[in-house]
Amino acid sequence: MGENQKPLGWSYTNESLNAVLAAFRVHGAGVIDKRKNVLAVCGSGDIPFALLEFARQVVVVDNNPAQIDYARKRADYLLKGDYAHFVEPQSEGVYDGEKYCPFLPNKGLRDRYFQDRETIDRIKARLEGLVFCEPQDVFTFLENRNQTFSAIYLSNVLGTFAGNSFRDFRRKMRPVSKRLSYHGRVFMSDADHLFPPDIHWTSLTWHNHLSQEQITLMNKVLKGILIVDKEATYSSRLCELPTWSPIVLTK
Ligand SMILES: C[S@@+](CC[C@H](N)C(=O)[O-])C[C@H]1O[C@@H](n2cnc3c(N)ncnc32)[C@H](O)[C@@H]1O
Repeated sequence: MGENQKPLGWSYTNESLNAVLAAFRVHGAGVIDKRKNVLAVCGSGDIPFALLEFARQVVVVDNNPAQIDYARKRADYLLKGDYAHFVEPQSEGVYDGEKYCPFLPNKGLRDRYFQDRETIDRIKARLEGLVFCEPQDVFTFLENRNQTFSAIYLSNVLGTFAGNSFRDFRRKMRPVSKRLSYHGRVFMSDADHLFPPDIHWTSLTWHNHLSQEQITLMNKVLKGILIVDKEATYSSRLCELPTWSPIVLTK
């Protein structure tokens, strides 16, 4: 590994697969279908692979080359029919939130999801729709890519753990809105940490509840760009651990 090369951080999804699927397909309303394009942050590849079953194309971006290499390797295993390695390619020595136990229910969920032979056969049949991009910042990518997406999965790239603040937020969401189709949806997790502490704590008290105060503040910050999709956010949060507090936005 070169001196500046980041190590592999995630070998499986720390977020709930079901929370992302609920965000994009609430009540079967179909934000995603086989004619539509999705953009997904890569991470372990779990979320892009799962979304591929439902979309025409899933474009995959990550600023850590090790994550892209890892997901590419998984796609190769799948293509060769090596399902065991597709599901568990490598996790020894990988950070994975220091094997942080609050994420473990989501690992159990993803293991069951990808162990279902019919599901992975459907994903395998659609592998041509998976497009890996050169490693880069997702916001720069969106600024430059002349393509619209009906769903954009941002994982926790906006969370304070990633060094962002509420002040950066509107600037970062501009290219996201620019490339989102009308009525499309954006999923972001670790969203509660973006709020000022007094507002952040209200949602923790109410166990994963997004308060009206938070919705109003976020809509004010994103005015003219995006708005909170309340129904999709609630559906998504029902499937997610409080740690990740996802928010779904729409245009
Ligand atoms: C918490 S991890 C992904 C978790 C995901 N649920 C999975 O399946 O692994 C977040 C990912 O976002 C990537 N990332 C963080 N900031 C980014 C940015 N600005 N642009 C592109 N990728 C970014 C990280 O390298 C990491 O792979």
